[in-house]
Amino acid sequence: MIKLKANYIITMNEKNEIIENGEVIFDKKIIKIGKNLEKNIKTIDLGENSVLMPGLINTHTHLEFSANQTTLIYGDFITWLNSVIAKRENLLADCKNNCYQNAITQMKKSGIVAFGEISSTGLDLDHLKNSDLKVIYFNEIIGSNPAAVDALYQDFLNRLKESEEYKSEKFIPSISIHSPYSVHPIVIKKVLDIAKQKNMVVSAHFMESKAEREWLDNNKGDFKIFFKQNLNQETAVTSAVEFLKQFEDVKTHFIHAVWANEEELQYISSINASIAHCPVSNRLLNTGLLNIERVKNLQIPYSVATDGLSSNYSLNLFKEIRSALLMHTGLHPKYLAKDLIKSVTKNAGEILNLNNGSIEVGKFADLISFKLPQCSNIEDLYLQIILHINEIEKMWINGEKIEI
Ligand code: BEZ
Ligand code: FE2
Repeated sequence: MIKLKANYIITMNEKNEIIENGEVIFDKKIIKIGKNLEKNIKTIDLGENSVLMPGLINTHTHLEFSANQTTLIYGDFITWLNSVIAKRENLLADCKNNCYQNAITQMKKSGIVAFGEISSTGLDLDHLKNSDLKVIYFNEIIGSNPAAVDALYQDFLNRLKESEEYKSEKFIPSISIHSPYSVHPIVIKKVLDIAKQKNMVVSAHFMESKAEREWLDNNKGDFKIFFKQNLNQETAVTSAVEFLKQFEDVKTHFIHAVWANEEELQYISSINASIAHCPVSNRLLNTGLLNIERVKNLQIPYSVATDGLSSNYSLNLFKEIRSALLMHTGLHPKYLAKDLIKSVTKNAGEILNLNNGSIEVGKFADLISFKLPQCSNIEDLYLQIILHINEIEKMWINGEKIEI
């Protein structure tokens, strides 16, 4: 058991309480929160202007593409996708030596205690199965062409089975459906039956680009040439609504949803699904900006996530929420700042079923601490953290100290 003392404790509890000069007692889980708690416990004073808060959770990454820095082409979704297809094998092969470890270290330094990894090949498994961060390992299925689907499904089953051999408290195998345009509905059904049976959280890209909107709605737009050239396909395998309806009884995390329409957002809300908002990735591929006010008003939980280094320059989640803060110019910075911090803590923990993301009795002690350069008004604290913090000082996961 250990007791931490900090100048500011951001709880992210129901009342969003911030405790000044407070203390938290925990072992694996949080036991007590308050002021002047028991004296006879090993105590760490986190120092002047210290902040103790729930660790951050990055719900959407693609670490297999961590070798990319300047290789992929930004500015347009289809141009980027073509560059991914052209460079994919090289990028996968180039993620060797310390490539995965560097990506994990970058996340750890930015306070990330858990992340949702989309695994498309299984090449990331060895690097993640014993990670000191918590990993929700989404085995991804892709394949819209009926001729290729059986082999791709078999490969998916093999990867899923292998990942399940390493299932632990900190490594949680799961399932990802690439997208409505790239996975055949028959395979989606089979894969979702597995997810339901195993009670898994599912992840799926949805409505990332205008090209996806036009292809699914009208078999037109930039995807028309792409599908003709690459897959000899004239029409989409599903409509957006047909796709969404398959997720009725599954806990699903939809990624992007920038181009989701009102009916689709309402449906996402009605099935208690969530959305990952990846503002830097969306900006770099020039796909637009998610209307987070609309998402919030529909009571859809959202998390801000970095996506992979395939469409971002960094995996630092403090930088990502800073970008979000600066991009959503219609929203008041103070209220938005609070919402963004909630999105990468409480919301993200609930989205991935992790029982963390807030400092409340019974939650896992997944905590981070750092020092602000000066003291801050309580009302400004969330905003000042987003503006000034890039790296953290200390981290605990399941109550154990993690070396950064
Ligand atoms: C497909 O297999 O259908 C597919 C793969 C990547 C992008 C788009 C479609
Ligand atoms: Fe993604």
